[in-house]
Amino acid sequence: MDSRDWQEALAAVPMALMLIDSDERILAANAPARALFGGAVEDRLGAAVLRHPAFLDALARVLAQGEPAQTRATLPGRSEEGGLSVHISPVRIGQGNGALAAFEDLSALEQAEAIRRDFVANVSHELRTPLTALIGFIETLKGPARDDAAARDRFLAVMESEAGRMMRLVSDLLSLSRVQAEERRRPSETVDLAALLRRAILTQSALAGASGVTLETEGVAGDVPVRGDSDQLLQVFLNLIENAVKYGGAGKTVTLRLTRIDREPVLKGAAVQVDVIDQGEGIDAMHLPRLTERFYRVDTHRSRSQGGTGLGLAIVKHIVARHRGRLRIESEIGRGSTFSVILPLAAG
Ligand SMILES: Nc1ncnc2c1ncn2[C@@H]1O[C@H](COP(=O)(O)OP(=O)(O)O)[C@@H](O)[C@H]1O
Ligand SMILES: [Mg+2]
Repeated sequence: MDSRDWQEALAAVPMALMLIDSDERILAANAPARALFGGAVEDRLGAAVLRHPAFLDALARVLAQGEPAQTRATLPGRSEEGGLSVHISPVRIGQGNGALAAFEDLSALEQAEAIRRDFVANVSHELRTPLTALIGFIETLKGPARDDAAARDRFLAVMESEAGRMMRLVSDLLSLSRVQAEERRRPSETVDLAALLRRAILTQSALAGASGVTLETEGVAGDVPVRGDSDQLLQVFLNLIENAVKYGGAGKTVTLRLTRIDREPVLKGAAVQVDVIDQGEGIDAMHLPRLTERFYRVDTHRSRSQGGTGLGLAIVKHIVARHRGRLRIESEIGRGSTFSVILPLAAG
């Protein structure tokens, strides 16, 4: 193979590859390699592109001994965590010896690992708070408050609410993991979205009443067919209405508006948009991009005191993604927030 053939073969492989001759000069490289090393690498020396002792030792060994080698290296300017896994194999180039180096960027993997670690730490922390309270109250009831009937009733009520918090957290975690597990499988049934929204309103009317919030609907009539999982879609609107009621404030109105869109530019087709509109205090723009992250809250104390787990919007985001839809959040401090779910309309 001459270097043009090599160039073609390398271009066909998705991972970063460099072909290096016996003088340690780079004969060919593919686009992922150029992206990884920041520009054209052909004709440069291996040492000029990746000056890392482990890489250079391995390369010299492969060229001298004709045996493959595996090593770890780091890119210049990156921390030890943003590592590369390097695999170097001996190859024949014309009459001479050469080496083919393959690079795997571990930073994406390590990032995923860091996210997982954060998640476990968050869950543990969220569970620990109510558990600590429960253990404290049990101790008190066994000791000092043993014969105090009034205190016992008060403590039992708090214990009930802390246990309820743990229960909600565990069930939200379970629904999140279920939704994520089937996120790639698009639902196949057809659901009437208007009927589903009426059901969501009915379910949340008690909560709204207790919070002094008026629920209103606009356009929630007729038959609006979407491809969807009805339990999951119901969950989406229950979560959004609950948030609008909780964060919208007593004495205010929450509006659920359904609009048909003939051609939605991003979904490229007929769609239906559901807006959940509140007149609450609104959300500062700096929070908007992170709002759907697991456990992200604007005000953790306030969310907790209202029984929130910080998982509601994460669940919403994954369900909407499974339905190939979009979630849009608009908010203005002092005016209120609008959470919009846009779903493709089922044909027929
Ligand atoms: N309608 C809303 N108005 C103001 N803030 C909101 C609204 N909906 C959500 N938020 C903010 O987003 C955070 C995350 O929401 P969510 O994931 O449902 O968790 P939770 O409601 O359990 O705290 C909330 O804690 C709150 O700070
Ligand atoms: Mg919520």
